[in-house]
Parts: sequence; structure tokens; C-alpha cells
Amino acid sequence: MGGTSKIPIASPLFNGNEKRYLVDCIDTSWISSNGKYVEEFEKKFAEFCGTKHAITCANGTVALHLALLAYGVGPGDEVIVPTLTYIATANAVTYCGANPILADSEPETWNMDPKRIEDKITSKTKGIIVVHLFGHPVNMDPILELAKKYNLFVIEDAAEAHGAKYNHKMTGSIGNIGCFSFFGNKIITTGEGGMITTNDNELNQKIRLLRGQGMDPDKRYWFPIVGYNYRMTNLQAAIGLAQMENIAFHLTKRREVADLYFKYFQSLTDLIEVPVEKNWAVHSFWMFSILLKDKAKVTRDELISLLDQDGIETRPLFYPMHTLPPYKETTNQYPVAEDIASRGLSLPTHALLTEENIRFIVNQIHYHCRRTTK
Ligand SMILES: Cc1ncc(COP(=O)(O)O)c(C=O)c1O
Repeated sequence: MGGTSKIPIASPLFNGNEKRYLVDCIDTSWISSNGKYVEEFEKKFAEFCGTKHAITCANGTVALHLALLAYGVGPGDEVIVPTLTYIATANAVTYCGANPILADSEPETWNMDPKRIEDKITSKTKGIIVVHLFGHPVNMDPILELAKKYNLFVIEDAAEAHGAKYNHKMTGSIGNIGCFSFFGNKIITTGEGGMITTNDNELNQKIRLLRGQGMDPDKRYWFPIVGYNYRMTNLQAAIGLAQMENIAFHLTKRREVADLYFKYFQSLTDLIEVPVEKNWAVHSFWMFSILLKDKAKVTRDELISLLDQDGIETRPLFYPMHTLPPYKETTNQYPVAEDIASRGLSLPTHALLTEENIRFIVNQIHYHCRRTTK
């Protein structure tokens, strides 16, 4: 055992103005979705991503829903999404009455393979949602070229990739719209929360209208459309602003954790595959995830359970969408995603981990993977 308490897989860190800003909200009674922190958080996030606009919302899932609604996605439409993702990516398409069309992953980055997309495009395809999985950016140029050729929108699901970069460009600023999550396990958090980024003025206006129940910004209680209450509160934005003030610190800490994992896994290359960071990418290391190789003497699920007994919390990679009941498919094959998903697990990745924690985690993985009985 590495100590008396469990090593959690994720942990938020509030080492800035979070408490002070929250108390200010309560003292001034600005606790709902009006208030200065919402605007300041949006401004700071847009500056960080290098986009004209950033729009807060209730969570990352509704960020995706709003993005699709802004493009008028509706019944009968198709949107291409990776099969290896968190279910929210596909669900947002379903909420619009449209069909998520799944594409397989590439073996190196685990992201949707640009070569698997063109075959999936039909006359019904409206756009593509790419997912920067675990914080490694998607190879965007081939996807942007396809989008141009077929006149499709590109939404970046950057829920896991705050601060990741593709060819020096921030994720969330490369496609038409970027969508972020601030759930408690994310790189920065607001408890629950989301953000939408875009350079397009018209999309910005549409998204703000849809987010605020459809109320005309120039005529109170006049609703030209059916909208949604998908707003973020000033309380959440207060935490978000404080987290943004320290985002460089949060990202540096994650990089330090990843570097330690790389260092300690170096001697286990026969057992463990570590994540890549392509030369055009800056990984944000939301979750340091590994794949077990054939030589490992335990299965992925056995390893998760053994590590749990050691006091180390881990989690399996996402089940591919085509294996889940709502999106079950048996005719199309997604061998790469299935292989990655069956061998992968995410390890504790957060700012509070010590080098001793990481050495212990890697030692235990080493020990279990070299067991003599399978
Ligand atoms: C890839 C991806 N997309 C979307 C979401 C949805 O974000 P939220 O949980 O804030 O709704 C998540 C969150 O966990 C995610 O990992």
C-alpha cells in the first residue's frame, strides 16, 4: 500500500481567488446568471483561446447541443463523430433528432482517423465533431480540407483539451466552434459548467439567444424562438475566473505529472504503451492513459481491480459508442477503437500527485503486469 488514503484519479485544485470571488457573489447577491464574473470569465477564456467570442453555459454537453442547434441540425441530418469518445458527443447529435455517424480511431493518437471520415459522408451529412481525446489534439488539417470539400461545419469537442495546441493553435480556435467542459475532473473546473468558443459573430449571437431561453436581447420577455435555459451561474463563473487566472499553473502541473509517468514507464516498454505527443501537438494531459501490451500477465479489468486494492483509483477508457445500447452497431467494423478501448486505462492525473505517488503507481502496475499466472 502506498499510504492510508486512496490516490484519486482526479482532484480539483483551488489555490487562487476562488473563495474570495464566491464570497463576493454572496455578499453582492449576484448568484444567478447575471453578474460580472460571467462576463469576465468569458472574456478571459476568449483571450486564452485566441477567439473573438467565448460563451459560458451549463455544462460541456449543452455546449455541444447549442453548437449543433446554431447550425440548425435537425431530424434526418447526419453528423460524423468518433466512436471512441464520451457519450455526450453522440448524445448532443441525438438531442437534435439527428443521427451520429461513427468513425474509427487512429492507432497512434486514439483520435478519430481522418482517413475514416470521407466514406461516411452522404448527402445528409451536415458536419463533423472532432474530439481531442484525453487532451491530445486531433490532426485537424485533413479534416478541415474534407469540411471545405463537402461544405461541412467542424465542431471541436475540446471538453478534455483546455490549453492543448495543434500546430501552435489553441484547441477550440481551429474549427468553426469549440466546446469545453468544466466538470470537477477537468483541467480547470466550475463544478459543472461549459464554454463555447467561436470567431463567427453570427454564431455567437445565435448561441447566446438559444442559451437564454430565446429571449430577444433588445426586448425583454420577447421570445422570437424556442430557446433553452442553458446558462451558467455567476457563482460558477466566479470559480471559473479564478481557475483561469491560474491556468498556466494547472497545465504545468499536469505536464510535470505526465513527464514523471513517462520517466518511470521507460523501463516497461515491453508491457505498457504510453500516450504519444505528435510533433505538431501540445498535449494537455487531461488524463494520462496507457494501453496494456500482450506481454502483460493481467487483463485490463484485472489490473484496474488490483490497483483498486492497492488504493489507486483508475478507470477504463471509454466503451466505443457502437458497443453501447443506444448506438449499437453490428454491421460496421471499428477494430482500432475496439482494440484501444479493450486495453486502455486512465491513471491518476492531477496537480496534487507527488513523485512518490507516481513511482508507487508505476511500481504496482509493473508488479501486477509481471505476475507469473494470468
Ligand atoms: C469528450 C467529452 N465531451 C463532452 C463532455 C461533456 O461535458 P459535461 O460533463 O460537462 O457535460 C465530456 C465530459 O466529461 C467529454 O469528456
